[in-house]
Amino acid sequence: MSRSEGTNGRCVTLHMVSSLDGFIAKKDNSVSWLDSPGSVYEAGVSISAEEAAACVKTIDCYVLGSRTYEHALELGWPYGDTPAVVVTGRELPQARKSVEFYSGDLKTLVDVQLGPRYRNIWLVGGAMLCQRFLELGLVDEIRLVIAPVLLGEGLQLFGGSPEERWNLKNVVAYKNGFVELAYSAAIA
Ligand SMILES: NC(=O)c1ccc[n+]([C@@H]2O[C@H](COP(=O)([O-])OP(=O)(O)OC[C@H]3O[C@@H](n4cnc5c(N)ncnc54)[C@H](OP(=O)(O)O)[C@@H]3O)[C@@H](O)[C@H]2O)c1
Repeated sequence: MSRSEGTNGRCVTLHMVSSLDGFIAKKDNSVSWLDSPGSVYEAGVSISAEEAAACVKTIDCYVLGSRTYEHALELGWPYGDTPAVVVTGRELPQARKSVEFYSGDLKTLVDVQLGPRYRNIWLVGGAMLCQRFLELGLVDEIRLVIAPVLLGEGLQLFGGSPEERWNLKNVVAYKNGFVELAYSAAIA
């Protein structure tokens, strides 16, 4: 059971890709650091396109901050037709039918807007929105993918989050040197 589990058993998963030194974006917003470096970790696993698609299919809804939304549109929308809620206080153009905008209290967003409609909710950035969700105790799972690169500077994922212990649930090392760590929140 997740700590903020609603009546429909919803789960909020924070999913991000981070550098080894804890950054999720470079100052210039370039994303080449996310590319596979070419070296192969022999003991690692690789995931087929079918397996990746099956995993994505289980996601009922994405939640993202407005800056992540704007960057995702520039890069070529990676969320398909899955419903996506963009948190913003601005009036932004709706670039896709699957996108809706939300402004207001984040606990109300999760408990009232999303909880009754969706079970598997993925919070996919950016740092500001993830930090607010963590501060409010709205994250049930953290799935952090560590890229094999030091960036030195950039946008830090976990600045200012309160001290909190998480339970390690799974570790997957991939052939391309990326490692996925999955944690669940300790139930208070
Ligand atoms: N490596 C990864 O896995 C990954 C994943 C996602 C994003 N990123 C990168 O992270 C960067 C963006 O992250 P970011 O931290 O700068 O921004 P962000 O979290 O994506 O968006 C911040 C914006 O979200 C809105 N917001 C946040 N909390 C709010 C609240 N409580 N109420 C109302 N609105 C709220 C505000 O929008 P308004 O200003 O519009 O009101 C705020 O300016 C981009 O470079 C992106 O590419 C990386």
